[in-house]
Amino acid sequence: MAELEGLEFGKSDFVLLDEVTMEQFMENLKLRFEKGRIYTYIGEVVVSVNPYRQMEIYGKDAIEAYRGRELYENPPHLYAVSDAAYKAMKRRAKDTCIVISGESGAGKTEASKYIMQYIAAITNPSQRAEVESVKNVLLKSNCVLEAFGNAKTTRNDNSSRFGKYMDINFNFNGDPTGGHINNYLLEKSRVVQQQPGERNFHSFYQLLRGGSDEMLKAFNLHSDPAAYAFTREGAAAATSNNDRTSLKAVMSALEVIGFSVEEIRSVYQILASILHLGNLQFESDNESVQIRGADALAHVAELTATDPDGVSSSLLFRTVATGGGEVIQKGHTQHEACFGRDAFAKALYERLFGWIVGRINCVIEVKDYDPVLHGKNTVIGVLDIYGFEIFDNNSFEQFCINYCNEKLQQLFIELILQQEQSEYQREGIAWQHINYFNNQIIVDLVEQPHKGIISILDEACLTVGNVTDTLCLDSMDTKLAQHPHYTSRKLSPSDKSMDFQKHFRIRHYAGDVTYSVEGLLDKNKDPLFQDFKRLMYNSANPVLKEMWPDGQLSITEVTKRPLTAATLFKNSIVALVDKLACKEPYYVRCIKPNEMKSPVLFEDARCRHQVSYLGLLENVMVRRAGFAYRQHYTRFLQRYKMTCEYTWPNHLMGSDRDAVEVVISQHGFQGDVAYGHTKLFVRTPRTLFTLEQERAALIPILVLFLQKVWRGALARMRCRRMRAIYAIMRSYKRYKVKAHFWEVERRFASVRTMADYGKSVEWPRPPAALAQFHNNTVMLHRRWWARQIVKNIPPSDMLEVRAKVAALTALGGERKDWGISRAWERDYLANTRDSPQTSSCFRRVSKELRNRDEYSQVLFSGFCRKVNRFNKSTDRGLLITDKYVYKLEPKKQYKVLKRLPLDNFTGLSVTSGVDQMVALHTSSQDDVLLCLQRGELAPNQDRVGELVGSLVDHFTRVRKAPFPVKVCRAALQLQMRGKAKSVTVETKPGQNLADFRKSRDGFVLLVPGN
Ligand SMILES: Nc1ncnc2c1ncn2[C@@H]1O[C@H](COP(=O)(O)OP(=O)(O)O)[C@@H](O)[C@H]1O
Ligand SMILES: [Mg+2]
Repeated sequence: MAELEGLEFGKSDFVLLDEVTMEQFMENLKLRFEKGRIYTYIGEVVVSVNPYRQMEIYGKDAIEAYRGRELYENPPHLYAVSDAAYKAMKRRAKDTCIVISGESGAGKTEASKYIMQYIAAITNPSQRAEVESVKNVLLKSNCVLEAFGNAKTTRNDNSSRFGKYMDINFNFNGDPTGGHINNYLLEKSRVVQQQPGERNFHSFYQLLRGGSDEMLKAFNLHSDPAAYAFTREGAAAATSNNDRTSLKAVMSALEVIGFSVEEIRSVYQILASILHLGNLQFESDNESVQIRGADALAHVAELTATDPDGVSSSLLFRTVATGGGEVIQKGHTQHEACFGRDAFAKALYERLFGWIVGRINCVIEVKDYDPVLHGKNTVIGVLDIYGFEIFDNNSFEQFCINYCNEKLQQLFIELILQQEQSEYQREGIAWQHINYFNNQIIVDLVEQPHKGIISILDEACLTVGNVTDTLCLDSMDTKLAQHPHYTSRKLSPSDKSMDFQKHFRIRHYAGDVTYSVEGLLDKNKDPLFQDFKRLMYNSANPVLKEMWPDGQLSITEVTKRPLTAATLFKNSIVALVDKLACKEPYYVRCIKPNEMKSPVLFEDARCRHQVSYLGLLENVMVRRAGFAYRQHYTRFLQRYKMTCEYTWPNHLMGSDRDAVEVVISQHGFQGDVAYGHTKLFVRTPRTLFTLEQERAALIPILVLFLQKVWRGALARMRCRRMRAIYAIMRSYKRYKVKAHFWEVERRFASVRTMADYGKSVEWPRPPAALAQFHNNTVMLHRRWWARQIVKNIPPSDMLEVRAKVAALTALGGERKDWGISRAWERDYLANTRDSPQTSSCFRRVSKELRNRDEYSQVLFSGFCRKVNRFNKSTDRGLLITDKYVYKLEPKKQYKVLKRLPLDNFTGLSVTSGVDQMVALHTSSQDDVLLCLQRGELAPNQDRVGELVGSLVDHFTRVRKAPFPVKVCRAALQLQMRGKAKSVTVETKPGQNLADFRKSRDGFVLLVPGN
């Protein structure tokens, strides 16, 4: 019961049909095909209709969707049965098999590939290398087997011309550990002859069209298939596969599987020698037979690594043992030679194919397996065998193939019925018999000892003397005249669709097939002259030799007749059926919708025919016999408990079975069900449908309900999470703030006792929230620190400190040197150390001036070079007090030349250099330009800074008036008697002392060069 498909796609399980009639079955099948739903169930059987187009249902997503799911959880798919087979194998350690049946071109091989891919995809999740390599070989072997075993027929461009049964072995983990391929009856007659429009095996065209020039040259081949008798028929046939690219894929697959370079070369050498053999002709001159085409003969000898004479004699003669232990050479007739050549070519190919399969088996066979160590080794078998075939001309191969399909149908009937029956028995439910067509009677017609067709054929082959195909037909007509499924022209003379002495007809379960007896006996006997076998055994090529071990026997040793082809085939099919019967089977029933390979055409009659001979309708009936549907109680409850108030959301009954009973009786379905031991059986699909519909109606409400609950839960969860986030954030913030405090405290705890009062202590980085706090505390500390420093300065030094602070601010870092590190003495003219000769004199003058002018403080004094009103420069003494600025004549005992009130001064300008020039600006625009000179105390140090500091400090602190200071980088600007002047500084080598000189727009201060 697939639930994910709407009813517009038809019913996903035929069991759910309202009535089991051919009409309804076909209607549903057709509807689903048209809607692109190629798979439909009958219980656990998958019915597949070949879509003849690429379907988007095999991707990774699809694999994931089916992995580990139950059949009814997804739409019908091959993957679902594959998974079911895999699960059964893994859960219950059961061997399982997947049997794919259907006629030629119905999609069996494709299905088997998808199944393999699925199994490969879902196993070995841990990617163990040895398991991967087993999987790789299993997947790659397909490509090789298809190249050598498939061919284009009128039915199918890629028809499998052999039967394939592949076992995959799994360890207890469920990972593939190896495998084994059984191949059945390769249609080798195709090597030498094909029906019109058909091709030989793909491998020949791949070699010719895809082989490199070097390779073809070495094999003496041309790339044209029309040049060889065996490939001529199919040379022009178009196929959907590209032979050239296929060859590359095959060669690389061979390599991956583990074929050596020599082995791969030998494989293609054998193909080449078969092609050359085909071009060998014989001519006869009544006396003897000769070979026409010496080149081809030489090539065959070379490619098979044999002696050319040996090749020619095996083609022309056969060795016969006479009674007395002697051997003689007997020449062939032309006809015999041709027959021998063809038999040889066929045998070469058949043995090559068998050898390839054997070689693959060697690689993938489970090695070092120990059940004690590795647990039970379980198997999944995949059977992809040729489907039922009817051609215009049906021969031995079709007879075998159709017999094989009869056997498999028999198995299907047995297993499906038996399974059903045992299930009812197990569950304690009464079983009701269903009529179905049992094809055992046809199987018997073919295989019964003594009376069966195979027996009659074998008997004819054994009979010494000239038994012809027609004599054999007579014998069948006699022995099988009464059989309801056998007829011939002789038995029903009015039926003109058969010829006398040529045709017989079997009424197979899948339809009537008319077989031709021509060549039947030869194909059954399948003779090959011993000489060929010996020739090949003696080949110098070890690969070839290995394929022909029976060539070892000498002619006199060969006495026993080998089994006939039909008997060999029958034995292998019986063995196959035995193998399948002991496994849990899963079926894929393939249907071919049309003969045109069209993706849209659904030929009603064709499909109806297939449905009927596959017994699908009976299958549905059996499945529904009494009970269309069964389910474990727990699962049933899980699915339908919402339809009953007592079971939703959970029941309080003693067991799930009781709860199921409540659900059933609430709906009034008591009469339509039976209770097994573990499962509930539902008789009519309608019941199930009603339940399904109710469920479907409730689902949206439940979904809404669940969504509501879940959304609420989600929102609450989100809310809780947000709250937690905020709580965490808060705590963290608090912690960070506290941690910062602690750290600041720790670092600064002892600054009071530190030599630098904590100036060198590094501040911890504050959290963002404390940025402002951080700035404040830094500032606070700085202030405190400054206070500590200032506190310790003696009052006598305060004036100097203040002046230095004022200079620092006023110069704003613009001037290079301003004497900060020096002690500032201020009154240099009065300083005995600076001016030892004149200081006493100055002190006297200064005292007089103080008395007279009543100034209280000397701001600055010193020698200077000054520009006078005539633009001449002269040496002067400069005294700046808090009242006046005096210009003194040092040469005349410091006679006052000029006295200017300090109020007149409005600011000053200096340069940014190291010169000692100062321009004192006045309100009367008659500025004083001078260059300070230094005495002995500090002959090279700066005094400009000191002058600036003293003046600025005095003005700002005492007079509370601004005193702007300009630091000029280029020329210094000033006014002299109202006229603007500009002063530049130049270095002049040879200049002794700094001095002014007039320039065009003012003055130049020449300073000594070094
Ligand atoms: N599932 C599928 N999807 C697409 N094409 C398919 C599918 N099954 C079969 N076919 C087409 O049908 C052709 C014949 O299928 P194949 O499996 O070779 O048939 P069979 O083995 O039954 O004779 C394929 O070559 C392919 O073109
Ligand atoms: Mg096939």
